[in-house]
Amino acid sequence: MSSLQVKVWRGGEQGSFQRFDVPRLESQTVLDVVTHIQRHLDSTLAYRFACRVGMCGSCAMVVNGRARWTCRTHVAEVARGNVLEIAPLRHLPVIRDLVTDMRPFFDKWAAARGQFEPTTNRHEDFARVQPESPQRQQVDAGIECIGCAVCYSSCDVVGWNPEYLGPAAMNRAWTLVNDVRDGARDEHLTAVAGDAGCHSCHTHMTCTERCPKGISPTAAIAGLKRATFAAALKGKL
Ligand code: SF4
Ligand code: SF4
Ligand code: FES
Repeated sequence: MSSLQVKVWRGGEQGSFQRFDVPRLESQTVLDVVTHIQRHLDSTLAYRFACRVGMCGSCAMVVNGRARWTCRTHVAEVARGNVLEIAPLRHLPVIRDLVTDMRPFFDKWAAARGQFEPTTNRHEDFARVQPESPQRQQVDAGIECIGCAVCYSSCDVVGWNPEYLGPAAMNRAWTLVNDVRDGARDEHLTAVAGDAGCHSCHTHMTCTERCPKGISPTAAIAGLKRATFAAALKGKL
């Protein structure tokens, strides 16, 4: 049986890589490799996962230089020969080993005003949004976001400007701007119109290329640019 040479980040921000040899198996995922190390070689290794089926968004790491969801990434797709390098997500504080502090990521969802603002109460009838309506078509892809932060970790502008809201938070804002049930369209647009918002995106599409769910935050941000411009012309921002 061949073995993988795996370098894994250990420690906090000032840590370093530690080498492990892991048996190479058929259909093995990167998360399987990390789990093997934690269960059989070093039980102190810290990492996160929950669903193992691409639903929860908790298992993202940087694998051979690129952020990925590790439970759905096969070793055969990403290993260079028999070598794997596994590190925590970029642009987030490292707590320990492969675990990052996700608070700055989700704080930006709040800063982008990513909360739904209802226009009805629970005593009223359900809103009916037809699947073929333009509003629904506009947001159908975006609402599949699992909050994995692969896009955030891959975005150059987040690296240059820690205040930048980032692709996932603005994708969320765009789904709400287009949600006919939401009552705070102008407030969502105001939240993303500043220097740290949509106009700082350079549209190179790294987030879109890397999103494991096939979402295009770049398209969402382009929509926000148009919508904030139109709202500003009407004096709403
Ligand atoms: S397209 Fe915009 S949000 Fe996406 S990675 Fe580039 S700068 Fe970041
Ligand atoms: S937009 Fe895609 S890459 Fe970004 S957090 Fe959502 S699912 Fe992950
Ligand atoms: S463990 Fe849930 S998405 Fe990977």
